[in-house]
Amino acid sequence: MIRPIVAGNWKMNGVSNSVSEINSLKEKVSSPSNCDILICPPATLIMAFSHILKETPIELGGQTCHSAASGAHTGDISSEMLKDCGANYVITGHSERRMDHGELDKIVKAQTEAAWRAGLKAILCVGELIGERKADLTLKVIERQLKNSIPEGATADNLIIAYEPVWAIGTGLTPTVDDVATVHTFIRNNLIETQGQQVGSNMRLLYGGSVKPGNAKELMAASNVNGALVGGASLKAEDFAGIIAAYE
Ligand code: 13P
Repeated sequence: MIRPIVAGNWKMNGVSNSVSEINSLKEKVSSPSNCDILICPPATLIMAFSHILKETPIELGGQTCHSAASGAHTGDISSEMLKDCGANYVITGHSERRMDHGELDKIVKAQTEAAWRAGLKAILCVGELIGERKADLTLKVIERQLKNSIPEGATADNLIIAYEPVWAIGTGLTPTVDDVATVHTFIRNNLIETQGQQVGSNMRLLYGGSVKPGNAKELMAASNVNGALVGGASLKAEDFAGIIAAYE
């Protein structure tokens, strides 16, 4: 039985008064849930949130990390820094990083290795563009991303794969439940083949892209879906709690 995880990616949203939203989330999910719960706020808020969330089931993560531990990399943040301020996870390979910062598979691979070096679990994102889906290239694209961005040494504990079709992010569009199941089952089989039965069959696979309280239950029930990576709807405690409730 794989324990699901519902993760919120705040992206470039949130300032110091967002602590009220985190306090509200803390009240809503104070009792242990049937899933792990994660918030990935902007790096500027991780330390403040980590004080508020101490002794709660809600964990914290970063949204990206540099591959190096420290050095002359203006504006970047290392996995060691994220760990130091209270994070246990980091997202790698999000499509917005791939597009805005040219993060290719090999960079994503180095970042994922860096996450492990610091003792963080990585949530590695894969997903196709709309043109790739229309050209029936979805599985090919995902196969390439998995092959080129998963480092040696993946385990079901240190790596989570998030499938985020780029065209579903922030658009209100989602694939059908059958389409989600097809891609997730493909990823599951690929991981079993490349990482071995034990690792591949136990790794958590998240769906991300316009997950809302109204569609979460249906999407989370698709085969080989072990949780969600939520953008917009994670910014409001009530909506995020509504998504977590899919696992009640
Ligand atoms: P939305 O939930 O806003 O579509 O964003 C999904 C996402 O990119 C999470 O990483």
